[in-house]
Amino acid sequence: MRQFLNERLPLAEFSAHLRKPLPKHINLLFSLGSLATFLLLLQAVTGAFLALYYSPSPEHAHNAVTYISEEVPFGAFVRGLHHWGASAMVIIVFLHLLRVVLYSSYKAPRELTWVVGVLLLLVVLGFGFTGYLLPWDEKAYWATVVGVEIASTAPVLGDFVAKILRGGAEIGAVTLSRFYALHTIWLPWIAFGLVGVHLFLVRYYGSSGKPQNTPEEMKTGKPFYPDQVFEDVVGMLIIFAILASLALFVSVPLEDVADPTNADYDPRPEWYFLFLFQLLKYFQGPFEVLGTFVIPTVGMLLLLFLPFLDRSERAVLWKRPIALTVTSVSVIGIATLTILGASSPKLETQETPQPTEQSQTPTAPETEGVEEGEEVFDFQLTEEETGEEEVFDFQLTEEELE
Ligand code: HEM
Repeated sequence: MRQFLNERLPLAEFSAHLRKPLPKHINLLFSLGSLATFLLLLQAVTGAFLALYYSPSPEHAHNAVTYISEEVPFGAFVRGLHHWGASAMVIIVFLHLLRVVLYSSYKAPRELTWVVGVLLLLVVLGFGFTGYLLPWDEKAYWATVVGVEIASTAPVLGDFVAKILRGGAEIGAVTLSRFYALHTIWLPWIAFGLVGVHLFLVRYYGSSGKPQNTPEEMKTGKPFYPDQVFEDVVGMLIIFAILASLALFVSVPLEDVADPTNADYDPRPEWYFLFLFQLLKYFQGPFEVLGTFVIPTVGMLLLLFLPFLDRSERAVLWKRPIALTVTSVSVIGIATLTILGASSPKLETQETPQPTEQSQTPTAPETEGVEEGEEVFDFQLTEEETGEEEVFDFQLTEEELE
């Protein structure tokens, strides 16, 4: 079998390529890219299982998510992995980006690897934004209302983009199926395509190693396979253990079903968008567009073109004072805005109480005289069974049933 494959495929060359030594002093920070790849795959697998039960319509989405969390075997666990995996993905990709900046790995000849990386960052944030709406609860609905409004403030194309996202004048059934399509078809295709290009470029140029590596040291480190692969796999197992523990012991929130008439609801985005949300608060009236569009867009463009703007020699970060200052100010700024956004008094008072079993099921009829914690059974009699024109919904408690 081995000989059969060897005669037909360049397996020997491939194996030799994987066993080539990496630069010396490669540390754990060089595993962050592999961890991001692992998380992307984990999100794809857990998402594929969730999709077996999910239904992207305002009538069914919330019930489907409740059903996954409460009835489907391992449903809460898989949903937990997907939920916490999304946050882990943002953290790991951000740390990976910082590692690349810290070691000047974005500099020539790796400019394209960087540009593709920034596009991947946008795709990861896109996953977060589109996925947030899918449970169709209050926070999902209202955060999307605000998110799409923010998009609409962009000059020239803003209204057009908002309309495309909404699929009409308001957030509704078309928006939900559009976000679902983006989240499960468009973005995964784009993500896997970009990761393919990214990894090809990474292998093509080889690891950049540390900036202080001498030319000899660039070829005298441990081999990628098996040493580096082993370290990467250990990292993946640790991340999986953390995510599995979170999925088992911390329940994923689900608020009341979205109520488009609830104008009192204070919208709140996912934590990794909080810094943008907080930024908006400083720009009111005619200056609003600065917070909603100008600053985020300029920031993103500077990030995208960083390798073409910073043409200095490769060196450790503390020997690059401008890069060090800009990176530190950006990280501290984002962290401060996130903390302010999370702890602002307005946000604290908007905590919606955890929904009861009835309020999670929008179609369930009112239940009177049911003790807390008592199990309730839903029944539905169809027209055929009752001989009447109506369909009857009713509920019986455990006691009544006996
Ligand atoms: C889904 C997101 C991403 C995945 C799956 C991913 C994956 C990887 C992997 C596996 C590596 C090789 C190992 C390593 O150096 O850590 C790598 C290297 C690299 N990544 Fe990413 N990456 C992602 C996002 C980003 C972002 C956001 C940036 C920067 C904006 C970026 C820029 C780079 C660069 C410049 C390298 C080459 C580093 C070197 O040669 O030392 N990547 N990436």
